[in-house]
Amino acid sequence: MTRIYFNEVVTRDGFQIEPNFIPTDEKVALVNELSQCGYAKIEVTSFTSAKAIPMLRDAEEVMGRIHRQSGVEYTVLVPNVRGAERALESRADEFNLVMSTSETHNWSNLRMPREKSFAGLSDVIALTAGRVPINVSLSACFGCPMEGDVPPDEVLRWAHRFAEQGVRGLTICDTTGMAHPGQVSQLCNALRQHFPGLQLTLHFHNTRGMGLANVVAAAHAGIDRFDGSLGGLGGCPYAPGASGNICSEDAIHMLDAMGFDTGMDLPRLLQVARRLPDVVGHSVPGQVAKAGRTCDLHPVPEEALKLKQENT
Ligand code: COA
Ligand code: ZN
Repeated sequence: MTRIYFNEVVTRDGFQIEPNFIPTDEKVALVNELSQCGYAKIEVTSFTSAKAIPMLRDAEEVMGRIHRQSGVEYTVLVPNVRGAERALESRADEFNLVMSTSETHNWSNLRMPREKSFAGLSDVIALTAGRVPINVSLSACFGCPMEGDVPPDEVLRWAHRFAEQGVRGLTICDTTGMAHPGQVSQLCNALRQHFPGLQLTLHFHNTRGMGLANVVAAAHAGIDRFDGSLGGLGGCPYAPGASGNICSEDAIHMLDAMGFDTGMDLPRLLQVARRLPDVVGHSVPGQVAKAGRTCDLHPVPEEALKLKQENT
């Protein structure tokens, strides 16, 4: 069976767009529950400025209070050197650096041109100097809501620049749900050819209903790492119209059914997912938590049972 590794991003990508502050206790409790479900990684929080993302202003406290489960990597988003210093203090297992492949999206998300982001992230890599593995998330790899197309060569160009600096992995993000499966197959094949030694993760949003189709396309192209968000929460605060990440439990349920080995305890994950609407104070898009798994059989209605008995 092909092994697929899941990275849960709900407490970072999922929460950062929520309007009401989620208490630190709730974040810690949720990460602890998710740690028991079989994830390879959990992106716990983000060491950005509290002014930019007030929801994640408690990053230090959350990282300090979670119970770390062996076998799970606790990764954090790091936007700059200041963030890297804070993340080092907090003993994160991996730094997830972020910049956009679209110039305009980079300006709106990070308030600077791409070259300046690249220089800043290179400083973070130099500061870290092999102490912590580095992953780089490249945003808007399948299209920018303001610029339109982002050519695959542009994605490969930025990917090469980071690969040359010795990063461990790259996350290819469809930040605003513009990717379609044909495009995903092509880019994933190219990425696997160019970067056979890197951890490649795909990060999809379901903004236009193509999220799970894109997961299938990527998995068939040999990608074995995916980001997902519990309940399908999420969205980039700096990308107009952005909405939820692919829903972790729906994607895991699908891949399990298709015969992939996700290593996940899906019943346990569904229990956690069913608590999520209470944590955020509203319903969430995820579907399997509502419908149950395909293997959860329902009792036969009495009427049907009677008819069946009478006629067989
Ligand atoms: N941690 C804490 N504070 C930080 C910080 C960090 N990593 N980076 C910057 N700051 C603070 C500075 O100290 C400064 O504070 P002050 O106004 O009290 O002096 C303030 O933020 C502005 O700093 P500056 O260096 O001018 O950065 P900026 O305003 O251009 O912000 C980012 C740059 C990237 C830090 C900020 O835009 C950001 O965090 N954006 C959010 C990015 C993100 O996470 N997006 C979602 C992920 S896809
Ligand atoms: Zn995202």
